[in-house]
Amino acid sequence: MRERRKKEHIENYLRTSYKGDTLLGDIFLEHNSLPNLNLQDIDTKTIFLGKTVDYPIIINAITGGSDFSWEINRDLSQLAKEFNIPMAVGSQTIALGNEENRESFKIVRENIGEDGIVISNLNAQASMEDVKTALEIIDGDAIQLHLNPAQELVMKEGDRNFRGILDNIGNIVKNIDKPVIIKEVGFGISKEVAEKLYNIGVRTIDVSGSGGTNFIEIEDIRYNDIDFSDLYSWGIPTALTLIKCRELPKDLTLIASGGIRESIDIVKSLVIGGNMVGISGEILSYLLHGGYDNAKEYLEEVIHKLKVIMVLLGKQNIEELRGTSYKVTGKLKELI
Ligand code: FNR
Repeated sequence: MRERRKKEHIENYLRTSYKGDTLLGDIFLEHNSLPNLNLQDIDTKTIFLGKTVDYPIIINAITGGSDFSWEINRDLSQLAKEFNIPMAVGSQTIALGNEENRESFKIVRENIGEDGIVISNLNAQASMEDVKTALEIIDGDAIQLHLNPAQELVMKEGDRNFRGILDNIGNIVKNIDKPVIIKEVGFGISKEVAEKLYNIGVRTIDVSGSGGTNFIEIEDIRYNDIDFSDLYSWGIPTALTLIKCRELPKDLTLIASGGIRESIDIVKSLVIGGNMVGISGEILSYLLHGGYDNAKEYLEEVIHKLKVIMVLLGKQNIEELRGTSYKVTGKLKELI
């Protein structure tokens, strides 16, 4: 059942057609016609989870647990190794009680090696034991726990009871000695929710806002008894969730994800408060449509244009880039 569902998520992701909006288009950055910089000196390195990475980009949680996910994770982790960027695996629930299902996760650590960053993934209702096992399987540098009530409620076989999750997270944060990252799956985290998480000790949140991968539509395609198409626009757009969560104290690390496709999305996300950005759907698309080389070309282009934009803003490194001033326009301004 879980194996089939994973495959359907990927197939249905490719079939989705609803065009969401991250509202990153409502962020205006000022052009600098006199950048005192040389493109070749642009430094995109940054520190994440105590390790230096070459770019502020994470290949975010997608899949694992079956033969076809093994191939996807092999390719994605080779990319992560080649570009020296972190990678998060998809939910490891499928591997908890089943040793055979662990290979498609283990390949990620094997490819990335001990110096790189590999992040475990489970849902936020997971037990302490499950979290320990998930971390052990891939020697995870951190664990992502996902919050996905919108997806579960649309999924026919999904969870219906969301009581007690905050307490469960608090307990895990207290008892696990690795960083705990709380993430959404494309519907965004409000400032109020982020504050509750901060108050129980969470120090890294992946906002995963709306405007990219849409799990209401993905689940909706799997059945046709209830039509959820009126909810396809549900969620907090990535730009909004990010700006609001950034109002919390500086020691909260924010990962910007949800609809990150182009270099300009990355730049804007870092400027408005992201410490890192996460990409799932877009890199998966390039991989599935044209294989490893296609996904590699995509990343090369994104990185080249990231440096081009940094020159056009007059910013030599990521720290300087994060300090860029910006203006908010349109719908985003109204919502803030
Ligand atoms: C996901 N995502 C996801 N997230 C998670 O925490 N655990 C998971 O197992 C999965 N599985 C998964 C499968 C597929 C096919 C996709 C496309 C995505 C969600 C992902 O990590 C991210 O939060 C959202 O997809 C939003 O980012 P993008 O896709 O718009 O870049």
